[in-house]
Amino acid sequence: MCGIVGYLGKQEAAPILLGGLKRLEYRGYDSAGIAVMNGGDVNVVKEVGKIRNLESALDTTPLKGFIGIGHTRWATHGEPNKTNAHPHVDGTGNIVLFHNGIIENYASLNKMLQEKGHVFITETDTEILAHLIEEFYEKDLEKAIRHALHEVDGTYGLAVISKYDPNKIYVARKGSPIVIGVGKDEYFVASDVTPLVNYTRDVFYLEDYEMAIITPKGVTTKTIENKKIEKKTERVTFELEAIEKGGFDHFMLKEIYQQPDTIMDAMRGRILKDEGIVKLGGLEKIEDRLVKANKIVFTASGTSWIAALIGEYLIEEFCRIPVEVEYASEFRYRNPIIDEDDVVIAISQSGETADTLAALREGKRKGALTLGIVNSVGSTIARETDAGVYIHAGHEIGVASTKAFTSQVTVLALITLMIARRKNMSSELGKAMVNELLKIPEKVQIILHQNDYIRDFARRYKDERNFLYLGRGYNFPVALEGALKLKEISYIHAEGYAAAEMKHGPIALIDKDMPVVFLATKDVIYDKVISNIEEVKARGGRIICIATQGDEKIQQYADHVIYIPDTLRALTPLLSVIPLQLLSYHVAVMRGCDVDMPRNLAKSVTVE
Ligand code: G6P
Repeated sequence: MCGIVGYLGKQEAAPILLGGLKRLEYRGYDSAGIAVMNGGDVNVVKEVGKIRNLESALDTTPLKGFIGIGHTRWATHGEPNKTNAHPHVDGTGNIVLFHNGIIENYASLNKMLQEKGHVFITETDTEILAHLIEEFYEKDLEKAIRHALHEVDGTYGLAVISKYDPNKIYVARKGSPIVIGVGKDEYFVASDVTPLVNYTRDVFYLEDYEMAIITPKGVTTKTIENKKIEKKTERVTFELEAIEKGGFDHFMLKEIYQQPDTIMDAMRGRILKDEGIVKLGGLEKIEDRLVKANKIVFTASGTSWIAALIGEYLIEEFCRIPVEVEYASEFRYRNPIIDEDDVVIAISQSGETADTLAALREGKRKGALTLGIVNSVGSTIARETDAGVYIHAGHEIGVASTKAFTSQVTVLALITLMIARRKNMSSELGKAMVNELLKIPEKVQIILHQNDYIRDFARRYKDERNFLYLGRGYNFPVALEGALKLKEISYIHAEGYAAAEMKHGPIALIDKDMPVVFLATKDVIYDKVISNIEEVKARGGRIICIATQGDEKIQQYADHVIYIPDTLRALTPLLSVIPLQLLSYHVAVMRGCDVDMPRNLAKSVTVE
């Protein structure tokens, strides 16, 4: 989703801004622009499409100057074209701004401003903000910005430069992250740390309703109420290889292949093998409250929501605590029944998803203990929860989540073990589970060795228009995730279903043109799944099975079988999802899709 970068210092700004925007590409965008201050004037270049288009435009029209801001836009209001690309300017052309987020009351502001004679040339909500600042400008730009921010409902990560104040960058935040990097006599602004780490590791984050005024002499931070605040920089640890492809064709493939390590990293230092016990430092202080919870509510979006479903199965089975799983976008608006004895757990890779954050705040308002299962260290959700567990998957760049999912599930298994061993899980079962968890990384590796085989048969399915994914029990959420992965990156319509539910609807779709992926691992409901496979076969559907190593019988039903090693039923998702990630990846590559940056999607969805 939209990304912001900014630079003020002694180097030429344009190349730094361009490099920064490239680092933010993974967030998803459809146009990009930069604005650079030069001798009191602001010069702008913007282009639709990829950053390389902006780069070519900058070759033709180079921007000179030491202060500038840049932006990648993910369209919300108005189609992705050059006019709607940021920056946007006020009526005088003197106030130039980039904005992430949504101005929700833009229609009423638009009307008010038009009545006062403002003329708009774009379809964006952002342009309104530029005109609003103009409207309030009386020789004090900072005051005008603060005034305008009081008038807007919605969210913003904002960066402004202007010939009124040629030596400053103004930034402000509500709902959309802004991080400021402090170098030697130079300052950087960005939506996340990836564009900064080349230059500095000393950063601080703005909180909601805070702003920063960056000048060559230093940074002043205050609230939008004009109350000064002190910010301390923190040092980010970040390996640059984390944002390189490392020899893989795509970040997504690299991230799929990282999973043996990332799953291990999620467990590292957290398991006492001999006792079958799990220790999670981040939950220590609230462990009692969690164990005694009346109810646990998971709230999340996208793939993280699917991980939460697996969390529900795990916690209800082993901890005997009632669990609900809610789409964050629904939870926040339906007045859920939550009180102080409940625990709300937000799961988020980015830690910035707007709906998940809002749901978390709703849980907090109702008095629940709030926890986070987050990847991005220092992100808003991580900061706002009462306690939490980092999944330590490292930076995930591919828009379609892979390694974060398996790490989330690993952490959910660890939390389950921690609670269950405090309750009624025997040390025998505890030990069996942790031992098996520790074997998962090498079993994932075994599945990854089948990559060539999966790629070869993916070729036969690359031109399909529909796919169905079916699974039961712990494999039902995996069916949802398999379908989500395929549709996200290959644009093939895919649906995930609980296998037995198929006969209540999707069975009507089955014919020779419908490939069906069955999660048919050996467990207590294996025979039932076989019956569902027969139902599909009888109707001519083509069948791909994910089956347990050694299951020869399954071959008589399936057109293709991908074998995965045996494991405990409750840990199966950590293995069964891997071939589905690879299948989606290869199909998408063969269809010529932009795997790492699929159309219309964003990595970090910071708007509702
Ligand atoms: C976007 C991403 C998904 C992700 C979802 C939730 O839709 O494309 O991959 O699962 O957001 O993101 P989060 O960062 O909260 O896990």
